[in-house]
Amino acid sequence: MAGNPRVALVTAAAGAGIGAAVARRLAHDGFDVVVTDAHQRRCREFTAALAEEVGREVAGYHLDVTDHDQVRSVISEVAATKNRLDVLVNNAGWSRIEPVAEMSLETWQRCLDVDLTGTFVCMRYALEAMIARGGGSIINISSIAAWEMSAEHGAAYSAAKAGVLALTRVAAAENGVHGVRVNAVAPGLIYNDFLRRIYPQEFFDSYLSGKAFLGRVGQPEDVANMVSFLASDEAGYVTGEVFTVSGGVSARG
Ligand SMILES: NC(=O)c1ccc[n+]([C@@H]2O[C@H](COP(=O)([O-])OP(=O)(O)OC[C@H]3O[C@@H](n4cnc5c(N)ncnc54)[C@H](O)[C@@H]3O)[C@@H](O)[C@H]2O)c1
Repeated sequence: MAGNPRVALVTAAAGAGIGAAVARRLAHDGFDVVVTDAHQRRCREFTAALAEEVGREVAGYHLDVTDHDQVRSVISEVAATKNRLDVLVNNAGWSRIEPVAEMSLETWQRCLDVDLTGTFVCMRYALEAMIARGGGSIINISSIAAWEMSAEHGAAYSAAKAGVLALTRVAAAENGVHGVRVNAVAPGLIYNDFLRRIYPQEFFDSYLSGKAFLGRVGQPEDVANMVSFLASDEAGYVTGEVFTVSGGVSARG
């Protein structure tokens, strides 16, 4: 490959789910991946494991997307040291399921802070670097909770993820002229061990018994495949779109 490899920064990339699968996939696609996560130890460990897996250095940064100064300094350091930032994947998300009538203001605020404002702030600084170099691809991880009429996700989460879709579309409209594409991916249920602690077994069973046309729960790699496409030049005429990865749950309505 001529020149330096393209650089992709993934937020919340050191967990057990989508972020780690995306970071791994983009690294295998040839990107110089920058792993970031709010959990310092996991970030260090995952970065080292990924570097070993792909046989080259992988940068890792402690980054809580609710700390706006930290977001600004990490993104500008990455753009300066690597001299480019081609792809940003906004994966950080948080939720606590409380009915609206009982929801604490803290739950509402935390969810908006991480899922929506965190996405905005990372985009805000990544766009500066992308516009300066003439292009890039931003991929925001939303959720089918943005439009699914259900009590399963919690209203704060649904509202924040719906906000991510609006943010995606407007940012796409504003930045196409700069060569920056902005898209969202809206997954259905994607398995990770942590979710087993939140949802009862029946929730998983409903996917297996027909809620998803494909009769299985999604895997983090299913989302990573879509992100890989959106990050690539093959998606060069794709912007302002939302792609569901739900095994048919969202098609079913
Ligand atoms: N898992 C699902 O079923 C599902 C479905 C739809 C959408 N999503 C969305 O996909 C994204 C990834 O979810 P996942 O369940 O695969 O988890 P994940 O494993 O990708 O993410 C968990 C990681 O997020 C990090 N994190 C939490 N708060 C953070 C913050 N403020 N700043 C930076 N990092 C932070 C944690 O340290 C942890 O390492 C989220 O945005 C989530 O809302 C998940």
